[in-house]
Amino acid sequence: MTVTLIASGCRSELFDQEYGEPLEQSNFYADKRMSRPLVEGTVPTNNWEDHRDHLRENDLMYTGLNESGKHADIFPMEVTEQVMLRGRERYNIFCSPCHGLTGQGDGMIIQRSKGGRGLKTPPSFTDARLVSSPAGYFFDVITNGFGQMYSYASRVKPADRWAIVAYIRALQKSQGGMGAGGATVAPTTATATEEATPAEGTGNDTTSNTN
Ligand code: HEC
Repeated sequence: MTVTLIASGCRSELFDQEYGEPLEQSNFYADKRMSRPLVEGTVPTNNWEDHRDHLRENDLMYTGLNESGKHADIFPMEVTEQVMLRGRERYNIFCSPCHGLTGQGDGMIIQRSKGGRGLKTPPSFTDARLVSSPAGYFFDVITNGFGQMYSYASRVKPADRWAIVAYIRALQKSQGGMGAGGATVAPTTATATEEATPAEGTGNDTTSNTN
């Protein structure tokens, strides 16, 4: 009996504690805000990635530039198979709608806008100029946009941008832009009829997927 009383007493005390909702007015704090401001000099540590993002600890990772301020032609991390798979996944989501699954510039949005809706046809990633462009250049384009293409900085975090760049390198090889070599992660084949069929159907796209 005593135990029950004590236990239930504790329970209700904890349950009924006052607490504030975000954006609620506070009568306790001098600034009248329930949400407390971040303490100066602190960094979020909910996960290591965010932590690194905040500290900008590794410049190459965030700028794509080497020490002399030029586009770097190295990666800020080891390009493992896992990175390539992540890159392929992110590329297919964020880039293929315009650049196409194999990077030839024949994505669905481009095919649809050929009737004069305004988007330029992006260059193929196997164009000599892009084949010889350093990895940091691609990072830069994703981060800052290029001409008609807007920035993906808010949607693709830095490590994923590099993963996409690694995958673009693989696409360039597999599409014959860099001689023999071959990708370690093969491009996604056009499973969806939408990627391959319209181009073949209209017969006006010689650069569509070969599968
Ligand atoms: C909404 C369509 C669209 C999407 C999505 C898109 N791009 Fe582009 N991209 C373009 C267009 C259009 C151009 C050509 C822009 C111009 O020349 O004005 C371009 C150009 C480029 C270039 C060539 C720059 C140069 O020097 O010529 C690269 C590299 C590139 N995009 C990479 C990417 C990557 C990587 C992604 C995914 C993160 C992506 N793009 C997503 C439309 C898109």
